Amino acid sequence: MIQRNKLSIAKLFTQTTAIVILLLLSFALGYYSRPSPPHLLQISQETTTPAAAASVSRIANLPTQLENFRVTTHCSTSPVPPHLVFPTILDRVFNGSSPFTKFPPRHLRSSLKQKRVKGWGSNGAVFENLIKRVKPRVIVEVGTFLGASALHMVNVTRKLGLQTQILCLDDFRGWPGFRDRFKDINMINGDVQLLAQFMQNVVYFNASGSVLPVPFSTGSGLEKLCEWGITADLIEIDAGHDFISAWGDINRAYRILKPGGVIFGHDYFTAADNRGVRRAVNLFAELNNLKIHTDGQHWVLATS
Ligand SMILES: C[S@@+](CC[C@H](N)C(=O)[O-])C[C@H]1O[C@@H](n2cnc3c(N)ncnc32)[C@H](O)[C@@H]1O
Ligand SMILES: *[C@@H]1O[C@H](CO)[C@@H](O)[C@H](O)[C@H]1NC(C)=O
Ligand SMILES: *[C@@H]1O[C@H](CO)[C@@H](O)[C@H](O)[C@H]1NC(C)=O
Ligand SMILES: *[C@@H]1O[C@H](CO)[C@@H](O)[C@H](O)[C@H]1NC(C)=O
Repeated sequence: MIQRNKLSIAKLFTQTTAIVILLLLSFALGYYSRPSPPHLLQISQETTTPAAAASVSRIANLPTQLENFRVTTHCSTSPVPPHLVFPTILDRVFNGSSPFTKFPPRHLRSSLKQKRVKGWGSNGAVFENLIKRVKPRVIVEVGTFLGASALHMVNVTRKLGLQTQILCLDDFRGWPGFRDRFKDINMINGDVQLLAQFMQNVVYFNASGSVLPVPFSTGSGLEKLCEWGITADLIEIDAGHDFISAWGDINRAYRILKPGGVIFGHDYFTAADNRGVRRAVNLFAELNNLKIHTDGQHWVLATS
């Protein structure tokens, strides 16, 4: 009895081992004999290898292809001086008066929280590090949501005694389904109250003198800022995290960066990075001969 059991266990063991070995073998064979991906597909791999980046830059630099990779709308040749940046936005976007005047209006009061701030990596050391280094007069934030990072930057600039003006570019729509996690952000007839709650947060932190929303898509907003001659010393990119969005934002934002300025952004190292942020930053740096620095989860590109 005992003998028979031992025997069948041994048999079972050798059978299992054989199956495992077979499985491993077929894996290895399948792996080594898989067709190598065509050249262009390499940019969709997790990390951009130097070879892949080089092949992309070769393609991007073909004279016939170049324009597809560039933003070509016209930019003003005379930059607006920093003290006229807010007046220019008030005039161009808000018909000459501050959106914070008499805010919140009576009909919105009951649908707003006194303050509701939530961000992602919004208090990282990178903000203070860069603000100390650049001492910006004008910051453009691309992707604001409820203002966590913008209000943190207000805190930092106050602490350093800087006169900094921050433009917050966001369509203030969030993304489809974001209310699954933010049910308390109210919706009125399909209109989610993200802009209003952001403005309420700014008012709560007494920051309406140094923060102004620019409530449009990042693409059209950044192109208009460029056309109006608005430039920034420091630009933060944190809007769409897919390759196409990040690529468009970085390329458009770079055109309004002052010489010597710094552009930086979130999600170089987080779960979102491989949706495209890291690939977009790597490719942009490669094509523009810039060196990428990192600070926490953030990427940083300095122009001097
Ligand atoms: C991750 S959140 C920004 C978080 C903020 N920087 C913080 O740390 O608190 C991304 C924001 O980008 C905005 N966004 C995404 N794509 C956009 C687009 N194409 N145009 C305008 N805003 C966009 C969304 O509305 C959302 O508020
Ligand atoms: C814009 O401002 C002008 C001048 O202050 C005013 O007459 C006009 O009614 C305003 N338009 C809107 C749509 O608020
Ligand atoms: C700004 O600093 C104050 C005081 O240290 C703090 O209470 C507040 O939470 C900070 N605000 C943000 C948005 O980080
Ligand atoms: C904003 O200013 C008011 C009035 O000066 C003050 O009472 C309040 O504490 C300030 N709020 C914050 C968050 O700093």
